[in-house]
Amino acid sequence: MEAIILAGGFGTRLRPLTYTRAKSLLPILNKPMISYLIESLPPEVDRVVLAVNYRKGQIEEYFADHDCGRELIVNDEPTPLGTAGAVKFAEEYLTGRFFVLNADIICSLSLSEMIRFHRNHGAVASISLWPVEHVSEFGVADAQQDGKIVGFVEKPRPEDAPSNLINAGAYLLEPEVLEYIETGRLVSMEKEIFPQIITDTGKFYGFVLQGYWMDIGRISSYLEVHQFLLRKHKFDNYVGEHCKVGGHLHHSCLGNHVTIGKNAQVHSSIIYDNVHVGEGVTLSDCVIGENVRIGQASTLKKVVVGDNEIVHAQTSLEQDVQWTQSIPKEYPKKQIGNPLQSS
Ligand code: GTP
Repeated sequence: MEAIILAGGFGTRLRPLTYTRAKSLLPILNKPMISYLIESLPPEVDRVVLAVNYRKGQIEEYFADHDCGRELIVNDEPTPLGTAGAVKFAEEYLTGRFFVLNADIICSLSLSEMIRFHRNHGAVASISLWPVEHVSEFGVADAQQDGKIVGFVEKPRPEDAPSNLINAGAYLLEPEVLEYIETGRLVSMEKEIFPQIITDTGKFYGFVLQGYWMDIGRISSYLEVHQFLLRKHKFDNYVGEHCKVGGHLHHSCLGNHVTIGKNAQVHSSIIYDNVHVGEGVTLSDCVIGENVRIGQASTLKKVVVGDNEIVHAQTSLEQDVQWTQSIPKEYPKKQIGNPLQSS
């Protein structure tokens, strides 16, 4: 059985981190986001197709060094084809029923249970669903008692929402779904293909997942997932190898070869590899990219500093982004689209 992992997005909401990296390789507790998903694959999956585009070289390099325990195919789209177009582009590697999984979700979904659910319902398509409190940002499933989905309502007012269940980014599909997807153009699974399958087959089911679910689409959720995993593993902080900590860490994550100067305070922040934080610096809710130098006595609050940047001594920044280098040519000016939170 195959799993297609959608990892071709630009991750524009995570810039400037994604100017230099594939979103699926952004570290979470010093491990690429995509490896959490790979580790959750059930034994039934013996072939993984990575649907990639932007920064595919980095993804290839990572998996050249890290065996995923299964056959791995890196399938490079000539241009981004969208969540369904990428699946159609992987058709030659599919042998039967298959998973489609967003690479940017951290959750407790049991894919083995999802297979059983799909089989028991005789579904053509099953999707994972997650209950949320505030429905109005999302595509909300109109689901019946037995799990059958009869439609989706986009960004409903709370009083108009058919349920509180949103698309959680994991699909289990029968091969006939491929017949619905046109070749060679950008096609959205959520907006174009799912509604047709619901109308034509009536065999579209929602599998509600228990536990936790986080969409790592924005800097705020990227910071939150760290806090969540630190609490889950009962870690005060997570510190990589060869770090020298002169100051104080509070609920933060350090990569390898990080130096924290005397009297520095680091709160709820993520620091990548090979970073120097000067004496007396205060960081709160920050993400600091690789090879960054932060000059002494600087104060940064809710700031993202891209890879290889220098923050001069005594700088004070709040709710800001530091990026002084050029932006990659192919990088889009705005978000192309977000299948989980439809536009
Ligand atoms: P934003 O630009 O911030 O919206 O991020 P994104 O480009 O990653 O888009 P989004 O979060 O909506 O994508 C959800 C998942 O689908 C991510 O794992 C993306 O990598 C993936 N994805 C989105 N568009 C494409 C595409 O055209 N091709 C492929 N292969 N994957 C895609």
